[in-house]
Amino acid sequence: MSNILLGVSGSIAAYRACDVARELMRAGHTVRVVMTPAATRLISPDTFAALTGNPVVVDVFDEPEPGQIAHIRLAQDSDLLLIAPATAHTLARLALGLADDMLTTIALATRAPILIAPAMNPAMWTHPATQAHVQTLQARGVEFIDPTYGVMACGDEGWGKIADTPVIVQAVQQRLQRAQALKGVRVLITAGPTHEPIDPVRFVGNRSSGKMGYAVAEAALAHGAEVTLISGPTALTPPAGAKVVRVQTAQQMFDAVQEAFDECDVFIATAAVADYRPERALPSKRKRDAQRWTLRMVANPDILGTVALRKGSRIVVGFAAETDKALQHAQEKLQRKNLDLIAVNDVLEPGSGFEVDTNRLTLIYADGRIEPLPLMRKRACAEKLIEAVRMIVIQRWGKL
Ligand code: PMT
Repeated sequence: MSNILLGVSGSIAAYRACDVARELMRAGHTVRVVMTPAATRLISPDTFAALTGNPVVVDVFDEPEPGQIAHIRLAQDSDLLLIAPATAHTLARLALGLADDMLTTIALATRAPILIAPAMNPAMWTHPATQAHVQTLQARGVEFIDPTYGVMACGDEGWGKIADTPVIVQAVQQRLQRAQALKGVRVLITAGPTHEPIDPVRFVGNRSSGKMGYAVAEAALAHGAEVTLISGPTALTPPAGAKVVRVQTAQQMFDAVQEAFDECDVFIATAAVADYRPERALPSKRKRDAQRWTLRMVANPDILGTVALRKGSRIVVGFAAETDKALQHAQEKLQRKNLDLIAVNDVLEPGSGFEVDTNRLTLIYADGRIEPLPLMRKRACAEKLIEAVRMIVIQRWGKL
């Protein structure tokens, strides 16, 4: 069973956290509570201490165990941080990365999954500022248990009531299960474009932003995998917890993958690798001295195709960026590159493929199964892909 840290912030729904704590304990978990100062005006820390049998922390300088730095200890020892209820103010502080009380300090220090059950007035919940904070947190892998519709303590009606206790407890159980789903599995991921230098200021590249690959890395981490992310040049912040290797060119990506491949169990190639590079990178900037300029290109190594030849029992997953006959071309790639699974996207379809936040993937398995997915945010596509990988892991190696 797991160690759950329950964060309680200053909503009138704070009393509901008592039920949540009790039900989580009934499910066999150990519960520790951290409260914001505002929450202590609505319910006493002594109530939670009596219910959970553990001391409650509020102030950053609370040190219940001598010799231990409480916020670090709680951050590291918890399997999951559940914040229920979370107020608009607490959401804003979490989104901004403030660490101005014990709860927000722990939220910054922990690498455990974070689940949030908001509770607030409907006008506050639907305010663009609050929704922007929710999106910021979701982009970092924080998950939400959506508030429900109803009449608030203030008499207003709308979306903003904290979710029911069974819904919160079930979300915690599912999140804990997911956090263990790929425990001990080493996942190697390539992401982003490659830049092939023409001269010191120009390169041949493509439109990949890295969003799809980084989302796959986040989803694998959320399932408890050990993730190595080999990233071409992108403007994205890598997910916390991933080992990141940065490269520029296809040859550098090839070398990095070759080096890491033996130590992985699953390889997922989402990168848009340049298939060709200028034969020779000029040592200084090419001047405008002629009407024509012919660049001679040579083939880059096929990273995925090369390592898949020695995959052994590893699971190897490719992507296919297609503009026509998508399924047919992807099936050919699946076979030619000796893959277990390929995710194909039609990069001409609006909302799909390069740069955008959404994608429409079709998963094609080595056994011929075809699973079309709807147009979704890339993070949701990544969840589906990792779930498919997990099923192959279980088929191949038995239960984890
Ligand atoms: O980064 P985003 O902006 O979010 O965009 C996402 C994406 C469109 C880049 C992504 O969804 C995607 O389709 N990635 C694969 C892009 C690609 O290069 O596809 P391909 O069909 O050319 O290559 C097939 C597979 O071989 C891919 O897994 C690719 O990583 C791999 N490959 C290709 C060439 C090469 N030299 N080495 C490789 O390993």
